[in-house]
Amino acid sequence: MADYKANLTVMTTAARIAAKGLRRDFGEVENLLVSVKGVGDFVSKADTKAEQVIRETLMHARPAYGWLGEESEPVEGSDPRRRWIVDPLDGTTNFLHGLPHWAISIAMEHKGEIVAGVVFDPIKDELFTAEKGGGAWVNGKRLRVSNRKDLSECLFATGVPFGEKKTLGLTTKDLVSLMPTCAGVRRFGSAALDLAYVAAGRYDGYWERELSSWDMAAGLLLVREAGGYLSDISGGTDILESGSVIAANPAIFEKFSKTLS
Ligand code: IPD
Ligand code: CA
Ligand code: CA
Repeated sequence: MADYKANLTVMTTAARIAAKGLRRDFGEVENLLVSVKGVGDFVSKADTKAEQVIRETLMHARPAYGWLGEESEPVEGSDPRRRWIVDPLDGTTNFLHGLPHWAISIAMEHKGEIVAGVVFDPIKDELFTAEKGGGAWVNGKRLRVSNRKDLSECLFATGVPFGEKKTLGLTTKDLVSLMPTCAGVRRFGSAALDLAYVAAGRYDGYWERELSSWDMAAGLLLVREAGGYLSDISGGTDILESGSVIAANPAIFEKFSKTLS
């Protein structure tokens, strides 16, 4: 089994460096929210700066790897089998509104498979990490998905499509079938943390459509390594390509999937 520990260390370092800047900028958002200047440009600069520092740190440590990040041009590495997949700030709308729920997401892909993942929530100081075959962890504590078996006790998370997204109708249908059968559905606004929370057993399941690879890559490995099941929304395995995901504990995965349109 390949050992991705050294990469995980590099990824954690990059996430912590970016977190310092983002935490400082998040403090500033609170002042800007009440000022006339507005906060949009400031946040998009914070986002770009965070991606830059992550990119510099990772590319310096592994110059041959490729790069896919939300805020900059992709790079084909001289090693075509390895690639970073990065969302420097997942939960931008929360950040923009002063809501303390956002994260940095960094994944490493090897031969088309995610083999290491870091999701860091700097505000709650929770560092979620996973390595293929090595389990999922938060701040050094092992993660397991929940073992609730009755949908009526289960808490779910989703993302409700906004703006020009096309799948609001489907998500609305999902909610109509799911809500009467479960304990509740949350929309917290960070796909990376939604997946991390399934891994941690806080949510029993999560689904969303119209996502990008960087929203999900690290979180998918967290769920898998914590013993959760995953598929795309039509039951297939092309999660990153389809941009849709269902994640849940094994006991409810099938029932939950069937409830969704
Ligand atoms: C968003 C968040 C959100 C999801 C959106 C994503 P961003 O990422 O993950 O939870 O519903 O679809 O775009 O824009 O904050 O990086
Ligand atoms: Ca995102
Ligand atoms: Ca983002």
